[in-house]
Order: sequence, then C-alpha cells, then structure tokens
Amino acid sequence: MARTALITGITGQDGSYLAELLLAKGYEVHGIVRHTSSLIANTTRLDDVYQDPHESGRRLFLHKGDVTDAGLLVNLIRDIRPDEIYNLAAQSHVRVSFDLPDYTANVAALGAIRLLEAVRASGIDTRYYQASTSEMFGLTAPPQNEAAPFHPRSPYGTAKLYAHWSTVNYRESYGMFAVSGIAFNHESPRRGETFVTRKITRAVARIAAGIEKKVYLGNLDAVRDWGYAPEYVEAMWRMLQGAEPVDYVIATGRAATVREFAEAAFSHAGLDWRDHVEHDERYERPAEVPVLIGDPTEIERRIGWRAEVHWDELARVMVDADREALRAP
Ligand code: NAP
Ligand code: GDD
Repeated sequence: MARTALITGITGQDGSYLAELLLAKGYEVHGIVRHTSSLIANTTRLDDVYQDPHESGRRLFLHKGDVTDAGLLVNLIRDIRPDEIYNLAAQSHVRVSFDLPDYTANVAALGAIRLLEAVRASGIDTRYYQASTSEMFGLTAPPQNEAAPFHPRSPYGTAKLYAHWSTVNYRESYGMFAVSGIAFNHESPRRGETFVTRKITRAVARIAAGIEKKVYLGNLDAVRDWGYAPEYVEAMWRMLQGAEPVDYVIATGRAATVREFAEAAFSHAGLDWRDHVEHDERYERPAEVPVLIGDPTEIERRIGWRAEVHWDELARVMVDADREALRAP
C-alpha cells in the first residue's frame, strides 16, 4: 500500500518541492489549494507534477480548502486518513505580517491548532510536521540551536511560536507523533518574488537584460543563514520517519548579510551592486531580526541531514534561473 501524505501550503515554494519528493518516493499526495477568483490557478509551482483529475492511476490530489476552515480540515483528514501531515500553510512574509497581524495569526497560529484538533477528531494515527521558523529566535544571539531561547520580533514570529508550542503540547498531552522543524531561511528559483533573495536575483536578471536599472531594498545589514529549499523538504520528510518525535533546527550553519548576497548575485552577472541598489525605508520592518545563524549539529548527528548548498552558490543558481526564465519564450 502506498503511503499517503497531506500537505497544507502545497502551492508554495516548499510545498511544491515536498510534493515532488513524496511522489518520487511512491506516496499518494493530497494538497490543500486555496480558492481564487481568477481563472489563473495558483498551482504554477506544481506544473511539473500536476495530473488531470481524469487521468487514471493518479497519485496527486488537490482539494479546494483553507486552514482557516476547521470543518473542512476534519472532513478531509477523516476521508484521506493520511499517514503523514505536513503543515506548511502560512502567510509567510514577515513584513506583511505587520500589516495583517490578525490574518497572519489566524492562518499560521490557529491553522496549526485546527489541524491538530482535526487529527484528534478523526481518531487516526498520523505523523504531523509543523513548519516552524528561525524567526521565533528573533533577538536571541547566534548561533541558535534547539536550546536557544525564543524572542520573536513580528506578528509572524509570535504566531509561529504559538504553533510551535501547540505542536509540542499535543505531543506531550496526547502522545501524538508531532514534530516541529525550526527551519532557517531557505530559497530557490521558486521563492516568492518579494522575499529579499529572489527580489535581488530577479532584479539582477532584469537589469542585465536592460529592462530595469535599479532595485530598492531595506536593511542591508541583516544576516541570514540561507539554504536551498529542495534540501530542506528532505529534512522535513526525514523528521517524520524517525523512531521518536524530535524537534530540530534545520540550517546550513553559514550566513551572510543582505549586502553580501546582493554583491554575489550582481557580480555573477558581471554587474556592480553599488550601481543598482538603492535604499527605500518602506522595506524596513518596525522591529528587525538582525542575525540568524543556525547550529545544525543535532539534525546532522541524529538523522544524518546536512545542507550542501550555501548562500553564495544559491545566489548563482537563482540568478541563472531568473536569467533563463527571461530568455524563455
Ligand atoms: P510560501 O511560498 O509563502 O507558501 C505558503 C503556502 O501557504 C502557499 O501554498 C499558500 O497558498 C499557503 N497558504 C497561505 N494561506 C493559507 C490558508 N489560509 N489556507 C491554506 N493555505 C494557505 O512559503 P514557503 O517558503 O514555501 O514556506 C513553507 C512554510 O514554511 C510556511 O509555513 C513558512 O512560514 C515556513 N517557513 C519557511 C521558511 C523559508 O525560509 N522559506 C523558513 C521557515 C519556515 P497560496 O499559494 O494560495 O498563497
Ligand atoms: N523582503 C525584503 N525585501 N527583505 C529585505 C529587503 C527587501 O526589499 N531589504 C532588506 N531586507 C531584509 C529584511 O529586513 C530581512 O532582514 C532580510 O532581508 C530577509 O528578509 P526576507 O527575505 O523577507 O525573509 P525573512 O528572513 O524576513 O523571513 C523568511 O525567512 C523566515 C525564516 O527565518 C520567510 O521565509 C519566513 O517565512 C521564514 O520563517
């Protein structure tokens, strides 16, 4: 019997890579897709694995839904009876969470509780992965590991902290196999265009092609531990295969400033970042997280996961992908 997985946030960067990974491993994959009023579906990141509902032998099933709808989650989990649930759904943009704090909490914090309760209500034996974040560390000094204290600095960070502790609490209260992966920033050519890495690499491609001249950024001094998203979904999967439910930091252990990432991305296209980057305070946050550098010792030691791609290679991969996309017809 094929194992069955349910992914919330399947249309996002990580969800799409995770769906590909699980399908390649022979899983039957179910994903929740939000309704949009547009004819253009929000499933473009799933184009490579999408299967028409009329195809026979289908293993990818997309269900209209939303993690703000508790009833839907109960019905879906009762019907699908997944072996594994990956909760990746979130309003995941930190700056946006200051403008939409209520909505961000409803999705990122209460979404987790709704899913965990839906598992209990369905009475099934399933393994649950919570997409937690290094944003929960916020002001805590680096390197941050599993024992580091939390000090979130945004509505997104506080919402995710609620979901993290809820995951721990359901594990301790009900004996659920529920784990929290505390992932540091991870990027790819599928990264949303308003996150800083993709904003930069997309701008590099457009500037190199003569379409634009400038890109406007906020805080260039922030330090981030940027990894490669396809490797991070492998870590998520491995965490659900363990004998015991354990929470891990998922990180590369290496970091750079936004300025250094920009410098690497522009120079890969033969450009000088100083000619093209302008400051715009609109892209700064009311409270910034200055330095995130993860300590991945535990996940490396206990389940053998290790990041291979680091931020400088990532910058080159993303610039190449954005330049290639511009050349495509
Ligand atoms: P992403 O690209 O922003 O994807 C977010 C996904 O959540 C999308 O599929 C989105 O659907 C979906 N979603 C949003 N609101 C929803 C709702 N109300 N109901 C159902 N689905 C909803 O994020 P990502 O980079 O793949 O990250 C995946 C998860 O890991 C997120 O929870 C994020 O907070 C967390 N995380 C990410 C990182 C990182 O660096 N990437 C690091 C740590 C933790 P639409 O496509 O319809 O918008
Ligand atoms: N987005 C953005 N846009 N960020 C900018 C800009 C800009 O123009 N200029 C500077 N930055 C700085 C931000 O202030 C932040 O310090 C850093 O670049 C990274 O910003 P983002 O790429 O938006 O990512 P993030 O670190 O805030 O959040 C991402 O990583 C978290 C894990 O640490 C998101 O993916 C979160 O969902 C994730 O949890």
